[in-house]
Amino acid sequence: MKKMMAANWKMYKTRAEAKATAEDFISRIDGKLPSDREVLIAAPFTALESVGSVLAGRTGCHLCAENMYPAEEGAFTGEISPEMLKDVGCGFSLAGHSERRHVLGESSEFVGKKVAFGLKAGLSMILCIGETIEQRKAGKVQQVIDEQLEVGLSEIPANFSPDSIVIAYEPVWAIGTGEVAGMEEIVEAHGFVRKMLKNIFPEKANEIRILYGGSVKPANCAQIISLDNVDGVLVGGASLDGESFSQIALA
Ligand code: G3H
Repeated sequence: MKKMMAANWKMYKTRAEAKATAEDFISRIDGKLPSDREVLIAAPFTALESVGSVLAGRTGCHLCAENMYPAEEGAFTGEISPEMLKDVGCGFSLAGHSERRHVLGESSEFVGKKVAFGLKAGLSMILCIGETIEQRKAGKVQQVIDEQLEVGLSEIPANFSPDSIVIAYEPVWAIGTGEVAGMEEIVEAHGFVRKMLKNIFPEKANEIRILYGGSVKPANCAQIISLDNVDGVLVGGASLDGESFSQIALA
């Protein structure tokens, strides 16, 4: 299973800034990315084409949307369909990022519809899950993980390929705070995720990648990706700079 080193640029960067960062990043990893690793950049919709032009044709480099709407087309003002994303060169989309769950109010059911629709439309989907600090303090980490996985994956087609689903475990309290989860907390949570995946898909669970996200930096990345059941990282702030993200990708 190849490790996935993923960037999420959120609502940052104009087209020109995005292209320059992608070019800088690629120039720094060119010829150095181990064959057992892949990189992925999730960029704002407006920057997908310019970032895609930099990643195009590069082995192990993927373009990703940060969100999508579960319909082919229609009267959904402000939304983007999987077909539109594929048309601009995306192979992946995020679904259920904590900012969409907690700032935009997306439910697990809606996230589940996106995961299933995106997969059926030919995208690979990164399902983001994770507990708030209140849920952690209340001892509900496993309960939250179980619910977000069960509902988030409930409608996917039975014949899905395990490399077309990626789970990103991102404790909400570690996102953008500089407070990375403790190594034991990461191992425990990723163990819960793997166990739940085995309950749902006994035959495919070990081939599904589980990424960690939440204040990943060049200085802590190598240790995090060496942990049990950590198959890569999803990086926000530290991915906005080409040099910093290249250090993470090569960590
Ligand atoms: O999608 C990425 C996560 O939200 C992590 O963001 O690395 O800035 O904490 P962060």
